[in-house]
Amino acid sequence: MLHCFQVPLAILLLALSITSSHAFRKYRHPKIKSSVYLSPKFVLDQGSVVDKYYYNIDFPRGHIAIKGFNAEVVDEAGHPVPLHETYLHHWALGRFHQRLNATNPEQDYIFVRNSGICQNNSVGQYYGLGSETRGTNTDVPDPFGIEVGNPTDIPAGYEERWLLNVHAIDTRGVEDKLGCTECRCDLYNVSKDEYGRPLRPDYIGGLRCCYDHAQCRLREVSEGAKRNLYMRYTVKWIDWDEFIVPVKIYILDVTDTWKQLGNSTGQSSEHECHVEYDVESCSASGMADNRCTDSKRISLVFPTGGYIVYGVAHQHSGGIGSTLYGEDGRVLCFSIPTYGQGKEAGNEAGYIVGMSTCYPQPGSVKINVGETLILESNYSSAQRHTGVMGLFYILVAEQLPKPRLSLRVPIAKQVNKV
Ligand SMILES: *[C@@H]1O[C@H](CO)[C@@H](O)[C@H](O)[C@H]1NC(C)=O
Ligand SMILES: *[C@@H]1O[C@H](CO)[C@@H](O)[C@H](O)[C@H]1NC(C)=O
Ligand SMILES: *[C@@H]1O[C@H](CO)[C@@H](O)[C@H](O)[C@H]1NC(C)=O
Ligand SMILES: *[C@@H]1O[C@H](CO)[C@@H](O)[C@H](O)[C@H]1NC(C)=O
Ligand SMILES: *[C@@H]1O[C@H](CO)[C@@H](O)[C@H](O)[C@H]1NC(C)=O
Repeated sequence: MLHCFQVPLAILLLALSITSSHAFRKYRHPKIKSSVYLSPKFVLDQGSVVDKYYYNIDFPRGHIAIKGFNAEVVDEAGHPVPLHETYLHHWALGRFHQRLNATNPEQDYIFVRNSGICQNNSVGQYYGLGSETRGTNTDVPDPFGIEVGNPTDIPAGYEERWLLNVHAIDTRGVEDKLGCTECRCDLYNVSKDEYGRPLRPDYIGGLRCCYDHAQCRLREVSEGAKRNLYMRYTVKWIDWDEFIVPVKIYILDVTDTWKQLGNSTGQSSEHECHVEYDVESCSASGMADNRCTDSKRISLVFPTGGYIVYGVAHQHSGGIGSTLYGEDGRVLCFSIPTYGQGKEAGNEAGYIVGMSTCYPQPGSVKINVGETLILESNYSSAQRHTGVMGLFYILVAEQLPKPRLSLRVPIAKQVNKV
């Protein structure tokens, strides 16, 4: 399935008549292509969990700039499935280089992580969201793009491929929907992880308890509840050209126990991102006067510098917002969840159905090289939460587009090319 969008000519002409360089940039990338694909099928029954890794998924090929990526769970008829039936804990899109001709393709590949900054391949995805996916804008603004598929980046004898991780929990008929979505170990009757390693006694909930094939406790069992589901994902992209300004992807994690080693360039530092954390109930901690907000903060040195062109946080139910600050306390970007109010897919009551994003005017929000950033993630602590997240995804341009208006060929000639 593939359809292409083209900005209508009338709108282009209108934009050009405003003669701002901004309109000009829009003109240069009129052809954002958009493809819709289905993941392989997965099967969920009441209370069951899938945590699948699909290697070599369908994806646009060639040297391109990714302009957006969205995904949702659909059933066999293609209907969106609401979160109170299938909770989409997360999905993540990863890039890798597969050795062609490999005897063991599952091992013979090189993961190509994003630009940082967690340890090793941790949170190395290019895109990734959870329940909020239907209501969250992931578009990369013009004239920026995430460059992939550049033949000079792919080692000889390798091919660029994409990996989709889907983690979903079927909460139909379960005793405690929130508890199952927060992966509470008691509800999964789990005391060892997926690999049989005993969990720490204080590990009461999180991903280690809701692995592939885990089963959450049911209130009622009804026969024939198994169903076939798919991730339907939409990739927006444009063919690479010299006017696209590349952006780097950084994912910051509020659980990063970051240590600086040696000097202050940020190069010699060690990160350890735990990805998940727990929020204690304010009544339990005797902090009830504090408006029952759990505010977690870390500071970390940003390894490079540049201009933020897009930002969004990822939080779980209970989240009330996340802010990224600069060293001097200025707000670089904040992101706030929207909770649904109904039953239908995209508006499910009690679930985060969207995160606000920021699109600073390019050039207006700068991170200095080696600047110390502060990341803050707030949750309501009116009740306890396990396995919550506080990630912040930013796209950073190391340079700004050069104004080219005066250098261009006459407008009329360009319009003819459309
Ligand atoms: C691919 O595999 C074939 C047979 O297994 C071998 O002869 C050939 O050299 C391999 N090519 C590369 C590039 O490894
Ligand atoms: C990163 O990976 C290396 C090699 O697998 C491992 O030795 C090291 O402990 C990892 N670092 C962290 C912080 O997990
Ligand atoms: C929970 O797990 C234990 C040990 O793995 C098992 O003996 C018990 O039957 C399980 N309980 C339920 C309700 O599945
Ligand atoms: C700081 O660390 C960087 C990277 O490890 C190194 O290149 C630089 O020389 C160090 N500077 C000082 C003053 O030690
Ligand atoms: C997070 O909580 C802190 C402390 O209560 C507050 O100062 C800050 O404004 C909150 N930020 C967001 C985004 O909710």
